[in-house]
Amino acid sequence: MPNDAETVSLAASNGRQSEPCTFVIFGITGDLAARKLVPALWALHLEGRLHENTQIVGYARSERSNTELRDSLHGALQTYVGTVDQAAWDSFAPRLHYVRGGYGDTAGHTELLAALDGLGHPRRLFYTATPPETYEDIVNAMVASGLAASPEGGWTRLVIEKPFGHDTKSAQQLNNVISEAFAEDQIYRIDHYLAKETAQNIAVLRFANALFEPIWSNKYVDYVEISMMEPMGVEGRGAFYEAAGVVRDVFQNHLLQLIALVAMEPPSRWQANAVRDEKVKVFDALEAPSRDDVVFGQYDRHGDTPGYRDEDGVTDQSNQATYAAVRFKINNWRWSGVPFYVRSGKRMGAKTTEIVLNFKKPPHVPFALKDPLKADRLVLRVNPDEGIQFVFNAKQPGQGTNLGRVSLDFAYEGRFDRSPPDAYETLLLDAMLGDATLFMRADEIEAQWRIVEPLLNGSGPMADPHFYPAGTSGPDAAERLLQAAGHAWHDPTSTS
Ligand SMILES: NC(=O)c1ccc[n+]([C@@H]2O[C@H](COP(=O)([O-])OP(=O)(O)OC[C@H]3O[C@@H](n4cnc5c(N)ncnc54)[C@H](OP(=O)(O)O)[C@@H]3O)[C@@H](O)[C@H]2O)c1
Repeated sequence: MPNDAETVSLAASNGRQSEPCTFVIFGITGDLAARKLVPALWALHLEGRLHENTQIVGYARSERSNTELRDSLHGALQTYVGTVDQAAWDSFAPRLHYVRGGYGDTAGHTELLAALDGLGHPRRLFYTATPPETYEDIVNAMVASGLAASPEGGWTRLVIEKPFGHDTKSAQQLNNVISEAFAEDQIYRIDHYLAKETAQNIAVLRFANALFEPIWSNKYVDYVEISMMEPMGVEGRGAFYEAAGVVRDVFQNHLLQLIALVAMEPPSRWQANAVRDEKVKVFDALEAPSRDDVVFGQYDRHGDTPGYRDEDGVTDQSNQATYAAVRFKINNWRWSGVPFYVRSGKRMGAKTTEIVLNFKKPPHVPFALKDPLKADRLVLRVNPDEGIQFVFNAKQPGQGTNLGRVSLDFAYEGRFDRSPPDAYETLLLDAMLGDATLFMRADEIEAQWRIVEPLLNGSGPMADPHFYPAGTSGPDAAERLLQAAGHAWHDPTSTS
C-alpha cells in the first residue's frame, strides 16, 4: 500500500513523472473523461510518466461496478485512441476504481473520502469533468464531507474545467466559493489552449532567441492579427451555443490568452506566478472594446449547409453571434498605437488558427521601385500545419532592382523526433506535479471577463449580427474594420 515515504522514481526520459497520488474524476461517465482525460492518463501510463502507485477514481451518479467502469473506459480508449495493447491495459486497469454518488451530495462525497482513505494516498487531485453548474455544489460538498482538507503529509488540489463562470459576477462568485475551501496554489483553472505546443512556442520564440524581442513592439510592429477560424458549425451543441456565443466560447479564454502570450513582458522565470503576473498586466492594459471596435456575425444557410438558426436547439429568431472580429488596444509603453485585430468564427471556409505580426515598412527605401513596397510579416501557425513563417522582400534575379516576396518557413511536422502530446496530457501531468504555469489564476480569469463583458449578450451590440454565408470568410464588415487604417486580414493561403 502506498505511503508517505514513497519516493518518485524518475523513469521517464526527461524526469517528468507524476508523484504517487489519487486522481479523482467527477463525471467519469461523461464525454470529456472518455475523449480526453482517460486517454491522457493512458498515454502517461504508456510513457512511464504515471507513478506506479498512482490510482484513478471515477465518481458519478450512475450505478456501475469497477469492472463495468473498466470495460467502458477500455471501449472509450478503442474509440478515441485506437488499438489498446493488452499487456499495457492489464497493468492500467487495476488503477481504475469507481465510487457512485451525486455532485453536492455530502453522503456520496463522504463515501468517496472513505474510498480514498482506503487507497492510502495523502496526495489527492480532484477534477471537475461535470457541467459547470455543478462546480459550486461539488466544492461545498467537498468541504462538508472533509474531502477538501489536505491529508497529513500530502496535498489536495482541485482542477476546474472551463467555462469558469459566464460573466464577471458569476466568475467572482465561483472564485469566492472555491477560495473559501482552497488556497490559490491548490486551484488549477483549465484553459487547454495554453498547453498546446504552438501556444507555448510563442514564449520560446520570444524569450529564447535574441532576435525577436528588440523588434517586438510599436517601434517595428504595425498591427497584430489573431484568427481562429473553424469550418464546423455548432454540431449538435445548439442549446449550449445559444447561451455561450463566440465571445464566451473562445474570446474570453483562448483568444485573450493568445493576446497575453504575444503581448506580455518577459517574465523573470518561467514559473506560475511570474508568468501570470505578466499576463495580468497585459489584461490590465487591455481596453474594453467599444461598439466601433466590434463586428459580430452569424452564419446563414448556404446551399445544403444549414444556417445557425436552422440548427437543433437554436431559435429561428436567434441573434447569437457565431463570428466576431474585435479591434483591441493595449494601453502600455510597448503596444500603444498597435491594434490587435482578433477574429473567430464558425462555418468558415477553412480551419486556421494563426497569429500574424505585420511589421512597419522601412523609414526610407533607396530603390526606385515599380510597385509599392510590401511590409515584412511573421506568421505563427497554431493550427493546422503548426509552424512559423517569415515573409520578406528579396531582389529578383536580373538587371535593375525588382523585388519578389520570399519566405523562411519552419514546420513542426517531421522536424522533431516525437509528435507533440495532447494538451490534456501536459496539463494533467503538470497538475499532478504542482506546476500551475499553464493554468489560470483567479485575478486572470476575472480580468478576462472584465474585458469581454461589454460584448456579452444583452449588454452590448450582440443584437445585430451581420449574416455571412456558411463556408465563407465571414461578414464583409469585418474587412472594413481594418480598411480604415490601411490594414487587411492575412489570407492564410497566401505566401506573398
Ligand atoms: N467534452 C469536451 O470536449 C469538453 C471540452 C472542454 C471543456 N469541457 C467541460 O468539461 C465539463 C464536462 O464536459 P462533458 O462534455 O464531459 O459533460 P457531460 O458529458 O455532459 O457530463 C459529464 C457527466 O456529468 C454528469 N451530468 C451530466 N449532466 C448533469 C447535470 N445536469 N447535473 C449533474 N450531473 C450531470 C453525467 O454523469 P452521471 O449522470 O453519470 O453522474 C455526465 O456523464 C464541462 O464543464 C464542459 O464545459 C468539456
